[in-house]
Amino acid sequence: MKQLQTPFFRIKEKDLRYDIELLKEALSRNWGNYIAAYSVKTNSLPWLLTYLKEQGFYAEVVSRTEYDLALRLGFSSKQIIYNGPIKDKKVFETVLLAGGYINLDSNYELQWMEELSTLYPNRHFRIGLRVNCDLASLCPQEAMSSKESFPLEGGRFGYCYENGVLETAIRRLSSLSNVWVSGLHLHSSTQSRSVQVFGALAKMAVKIAKEYELSLDYVDMGGGYFGGRDDMPDYRDYFREICRELSAHFDPQKTILIAEPGVSLISRASTFETTVIDVKDIRGRKFVVTDGSRTNLNPLVTRHVYPHHMEYISDTSVRNSVPDQWICGATCMEYDKLFEITDEVELLPGDKIIYDTAGGYTMCLNPLFINYFPAVYIEREDGSVFTARDPWTNEEFLQKNHWIEG
Ligand SMILES: Cc1ncc(COP(=O)(O)O)c(C=O)c1O
Repeated sequence: MKQLQTPFFRIKEKDLRYDIELLKEALSRNWGNYIAAYSVKTNSLPWLLTYLKEQGFYAEVVSRTEYDLALRLGFSSKQIIYNGPIKDKKVFETVLLAGGYINLDSNYELQWMEELSTLYPNRHFRIGLRVNCDLASLCPQEAMSSKESFPLEGGRFGYCYENGVLETAIRRLSSLSNVWVSGLHLHSSTQSRSVQVFGALAKMAVKIAKEYELSLDYVDMGGGYFGGRDDMPDYRDYFREICRELSAHFDPQKTILIAEPGVSLISRASTFETTVIDVKDIRGRKFVVTDGSRTNLNPLVTRHVYPHHMEYISDTSVRNSVPDQWICGATCMEYDKLFEITDEVELLPGDKIIYDTAGGYTMCLNPLFINYFPAVYIEREDGSVFTARDPWTNEEFLQKNHWIEG
């Protein structure tokens, strides 16, 4: 691959294809009747969305903006899964009428369904509900061993099962003659991303369907899987467990299994590539200044571990070993320090620091701060390079700004 100006994100098509195939294989082998929908918020890079559409993916959107983006990139309203607590009424109606999938999350949406049911008496609507259940009590072992995986009072999305709010929502919708509660959505973000949690969620879908006598068209297990890490479970493990539980009650002929992966699909394929610009010596410590930033990889500044590898510009056998080097970012914020290396070969200007499995989420979740979006290059399977995004400049930043009055 030719030398590209750092900093930039790279997506390797070969690795992306590998994870797409792994997902499809796991879904078709374990269930057969499935829809894979990509979580647009995770990474809304237009190239990526288009690529996934061509691979048969639907778009899972949580805002009007994401919906509009998906349509502009060629998804139809039927290929949309509309989630989230803040929905747009017009988009809601359009997706519903087009036969796309909607998972209700908020109280006002129940009222919208009542209105639409009256407005279109001759149409039959299918609708899904996002389930909020007490995961900590479903997986007590896990909750004990990793407390931070579970928000103390549980997640904040969907309708609560335990206090009867879910049941009330189901009853309210079922009382409408042309509305069919046809889906359950069980996305749950846990830090552990454990297979056990997915099994418990699938079991919950069975329990709810039985308890409220729902004849479900689909069960949407959401996202939240590991991907791209050989030391962690992958799609094969998750869907084996999910489908084992689901098959206790659901029939793959009748009920579609929906998956909404985000970061798990893209992690293996993406890297963030930076160059050492300067090395400073300050009271015995070396500060290695690079042209990438912590803001590109971890805008919320919570992480301290950044898997990476180096590509040295010159022979390292003639370099000294240095007790302590701090790898720093390009912003002039004191906190823009990524990681420390001890007793390693000295880094020199021109060396490359390449962050592995990096940028899946932050390629698009990148603050426009000091510098703007870095470029994204696609390394195609034949080795050629496609520019999916040029680096943003003031051309893009100045758009929609007004600074001359009158
Ligand atoms: C409803 C929903 N589906 C899918 C995803 C994708 O999750 P992940 O990127 O962890 O796979 C998210 C992310 O939080 C989500 O909220």
